[in-house]
Amino acid sequence: MSNIPDNFKEKIISLCKRRGFIFQSSEIYGGLKSAYDYGPLGVELKRNLMNEWWKSMVHKREDVIGIDASIIMHSKVWESSGHLSGFSDPLVDCLISKERFRADKAPRPKIGDDLPINCNDKGQAKDYQKQIEDRFKIQLKRTGKILKGLKLIDKNTFGHFDDDNDIPTKTFEYRGYVGPTFGSPFLSDERQFNLMFRSQIGPVDVLGQITKYVEENRKLNSDDLRKGIDNLVKESAVYLRPETAQAMFVQFLNCQQTMSMKIPFGIAQMGKSFRNEITTEHFIFRSCEFEQMEMEFFVEPGSQKEWLEYWRDNRMKWWQKFANYPENFRYRKHEKDELAHYADACYDIEYKYPWGFDELEGVASRTDYDLKKHAENSGTKLSYFDQQKMDPNSGKNGWRYTPYVIEPAAGATRGLLVYLMDAYHEEIVKDASGKESTRVVMKLHPKLAPIKAAVLPLVKKEGLPEIARKIVDELFNSSINARYDEQHSIGKRYRRHDEAGTPYCITIDGQTKEDNTVTIRDRDSMKQERVDLKDIINIIQKKLSLS
Ligand code: GAP
Repeated sequence: MSNIPDNFKEKIISLCKRRGFIFQSSEIYGGLKSAYDYGPLGVELKRNLMNEWWKSMVHKREDVIGIDASIIMHSKVWESSGHLSGFSDPLVDCLISKERFRADKAPRPKIGDDLPINCNDKGQAKDYQKQIEDRFKIQLKRTGKILKGLKLIDKNTFGHFDDDNDIPTKTFEYRGYVGPTFGSPFLSDERQFNLMFRSQIGPVDVLGQITKYVEENRKLNSDDLRKGIDNLVKESAVYLRPETAQAMFVQFLNCQQTMSMKIPFGIAQMGKSFRNEITTEHFIFRSCEFEQMEMEFFVEPGSQKEWLEYWRDNRMKWWQKFANYPENFRYRKHEKDELAHYADACYDIEYKYPWGFDELEGVASRTDYDLKKHAENSGTKLSYFDQQKMDPNSGKNGWRYTPYVIEPAAGATRGLLVYLMDAYHEEIVKDASGKESTRVVMKLHPKLAPIKAAVLPLVKKEGLPEIARKIVDELFNSSINARYDEQHSIGKRYRRHDEAGTPYCITIDGQTKEDNTVTIRDRDSMKQERVDLKDIINIIQKKLSLS
């Protein structure tokens, strides 16, 4: 089932801005592509979501402990983990439009398909037509803003065909895909593009070093010069972490020993990760700076299958618990050829986004790959000794082994997008005179809702604001995030808090002064109940803990 409107992007992005959930980064300077700021409501929602994860993974379990590691780690960490050599996307340039894109995400037409080049307007079409003629010596036919005449012949070849002619006038090598925006098959070779953000640590004059190196090596060809400069920069290079996971491997021993943990046990961390993504997409779904919630669960070799299924189910239940539509979540088991180099099995927990099912969290069986690599490259024994167990190889008591690892790796900012989509509802409602209007309501789970209760004096006089402020103070003292709100009519205030996802509105009216009662309005049903003022904190507390 779905409540997501067709033009979700415009609607959700506009609500996020209107109500202070998410803003474009550096907006007053024209904005920074794919970078976002979490506003007054967004920061609360993100923290609530991450705190719920921490509670469920760390505070409510004896077998998981937490850490908060630095974002910049020793570059050897990324060498050992394989991120320096292998954490890259294949990058391609369209030779005509200069569009740069990811080869593995590009559209793949079928053999026999026409390959039209779809330009933005006639002027661009004329320009591209001329470029293609000059460079590839073929004359494409232009109809409005579309260039025609190219067709896919087989998996390695496309050709140019004049009108109804079956024989191509010229053929070209086909790469297996076309450019995503214009559909052009005229493409550069693929290059691997590392996704890690690189910086320099310490007072290093890298530009000075490069200048000197170039002056001293003028005779080198450009490939060798590039390699030399790369080696030079690497000496002082550091990287912003592309995943939170590696800290749990390199701090395995410290955590295990200081807390006397016995296997199976896990180490959890949540926080920022950075990837210089070529394709950033769908608002905050894929961005360059994002937050993750990851846990490495260390298990005995041989027990990984059972633990993988345990964590897959545990994590699925957790996501569904806060959703209005649990049926919009599903698992997908990775095919063998899809598995990362370190994994022997993996499930994705997927959500039904408006563009189809896509990843929300990966639950991977990471084998003993990372601990072994870090042990090998650091010279530190990253193993575990179980006195109670028999060594299966020697048959003697006491078994030393490198633990296997199950990793539930979730996106916190991606999770936030999922719950914003799940919460967004448009409903037709009637006012007292029967007039219909659309109510936009964010049915966020009360535990995630940024503001738990809004306190609204019906009018700004007759002592009602004073009573309201006293209630807000009491809610604050009970650690309930509340908000005093007296601006605009009561109807407008209810609508404002519907959009903010505030589950309860407490209204102080004329009757309050007569009999010490107030009304509590439920966001989803819009029903109001009148309760004693003295019971208000207990009632809200109970509603929040039951939800
Ligand atoms: N340690 C394993 C790991 O990082 P991943 O599948 O690359 O695995 C885990 O990332 C989760 O982090 C993803 O399921 C997704 O929710 C989130 N994530 C990854 N890249 C992201 C990006 N560029 N923007 C937002 N979230 C991202």
